[in-house]
Amino acid sequence: MSPAKDSAVVLPQTRKQRKRFKRKVKIRVKRKTQKVEKLKDRENVTPLVKKYWLQRYDLFSKYDVGIRMDEEGWFSVTPEEIAALQASRCSGAGVIIDAFAGVGGNAIQFAQVCHHVIAIDIDPKKIELAFHNAKIYGVEDYIDFIVGDFFQLAPSLKGDAVFLSPPWGGPSYKAKENYTLDLLKPKDGHSLFQVAQEITPNIIMYLPRNIDMLQASELSWLSSPPLDMEIEENFVRGRSKGITLYFGNIVLQSL
Ligand SMILES: C[S@@+](CC[C@H](N)C(=O)[O-])C[C@H]1O[C@@H](n2cnc3c(N)ncnc32)[C@H](O)[C@@H]1O
Repeated sequence: MSPAKDSAVVLPQTRKQRKRFKRKVKIRVKRKTQKVEKLKDRENVTPLVKKYWLQRYDLFSKYDVGIRMDEEGWFSVTPEEIAALQASRCSGAGVIIDAFAGVGGNAIQFAQVCHHVIAIDIDPKKIELAFHNAKIYGVEDYIDFIVGDFFQLAPSLKGDAVFLSPPWGGPSYKAKENYTLDLLKPKDGHSLFQVAQEITPNIIMYLPRNIDMLQASELSWLSSPPLDMEIEENFVRGRSKGITLYFGNIVLQSL
């Protein structure tokens, strides 16, 4: 048997064959690139979020079933593994308030382990996407989707725990050496924490990995007596993605 017959790809021998082979490879690469580009267009993958699209299965394991995002959703959704870990701390709890629900990354995971979730977002498009994405995971019936401003709604809310993942100010947050609580949007971290505390001391806060740790740990002192607090660094594939602070009864025990 000749070596050419043995190998999977028969390499072209003559100049003409080589030229035809190269052309074929070029066409195949071009088609593949066009297919990927089309897919990205359909999924709101702007140049700013291309990097996040490459991590799409870390964000939602059921991505291919039909998950939908908008540009902000791409860079602000909590990766599924982290959202599941955060939710596991409230397993079996009654009502969880997801104050900044976005496209539903956290609300979906809470709905899988808690009785009910109140998912709030000020942007109607986000709530539409969160509802759609919750359906992909089959948990839409366990979530109340509310379009509104958390700060305005807070006095009328009741829940067993509040989850806070406010906007970090876009991907540029990484450039800060020391991310201070006043950089959180739309209000600083202290004000946000105080508003949440009026609802319950059981609070989970998801913050950038470069957060000022001293400031973050001082949050527990906003309450008298100070709240129990636990700090967890969150990784995906060995890369640090954020810091989760747990307060109140969520520390060291389930709700
Ligand atoms: C970091 S994202 C949340 C991502 C979410 N945890 C997820 O996994 O999909 C922050 C969200 O807060 C929303 N937001 C900003 N200000 C708000 C406010 N005052 N009340 C409620 N939602 C607000 C934004 O529209 C954005 O979707």
